[in-house]
Amino acid sequence: MGVKTAKGRVGFIIAIFDKKRYIALMLPSELVKYKKNSQKIIALTAWDSISGSLAEQSGADIVLVGDSLAMVCLGYKSTLPITLENMIHHTNAVSRGFSKELEEQSLLVCDMPFLTYQCGEDKAVEYAGKIIKNTYAKAVKVEGAEPEVQNVISRLIRMGIPVMGHLGLTPQSYLNLGLKKQGINSESHEKIKRDALSLEKLGCFSIVLEHIPELLAKEIQIDLEIPIIGIGAGKYCDGQVRVTADLLGLNDKQPPFCKPIIDGKKYFGEKLKEWVASERLS
Ligand code: KIV
Repeated sequence: MGVKTAKGRVGFIIAIFDKKRYIALMLPSELVKYKKNSQKIIALTAWDSISGSLAEQSGADIVLVGDSLAMVCLGYKSTLPITLENMIHHTNAVSRGFSKELEEQSLLVCDMPFLTYQCGEDKAVEYAGKIIKNTYAKAVKVEGAEPEVQNVISRLIRMGIPVMGHLGLTPQSYLNLGLKKQGINSESHEKIKRDALSLEKLGCFSIVLEHIPELLAKEIQIDLEIPIIGIGAGKYCDGQVRVTADLLGLNDKQPPFCKPIIDGKKYFGEKLKEWVASERLS
């Protein structure tokens, strides 16, 4: 039915447009249905508009602007130097690479960088709020489950910001824990299980498990209702996430748990060399 607008025109076109805007928006809360239906969740990272476009057009359910972009895109030796402004800048570049309308896009998740959520709840809400207000990300990801982080997660969720957890190898803690496999002794095994349960209770919509034993991931997958998305955590997870640059073999150093699908660095390097050589001769 039409409605008279201020200019006197019949406004049902706006109504149809509004209806279109609200169809099928992929929200973080949708992911739990994937687990219930035993539908695998696939996530890829992206860091600029080209990788955003590749990730989106691959059909991945989630595009994660991970802080690994510090290393794979900005040349840092770890994820620690990346700033909130960097993450916002890159998240916007990623979504500019998307071809589809907002309601058809993959779920865009942005990592909260080191020390933007470990220094108090008020700051964490302010910084996560900047990500949500200034990008198309519909959720943030935080690492670990220390008491301070748990308080922050609970507050962010209460304030309307969905949170994805991240346990196991947490690169932001590498100065304490190194970059090695976690959960290999019984103490660390039990801690990761306890932490996963806590994150679910706090309301995280999903948890990334990085570089832990396959059977530990399996126990967590069974215990939790929310989906577990693994990277180097074996085949029993509800989904898999990969750093796209690792998958494409673009980095000098490859993590032990990601088998590249192409030796991209060698392949593209050779193609460029060939082109340069042929142009010199032409
Ligand atoms: O930063 C990142 O890319 C990540 C993935 C390893 C999940 O957190």
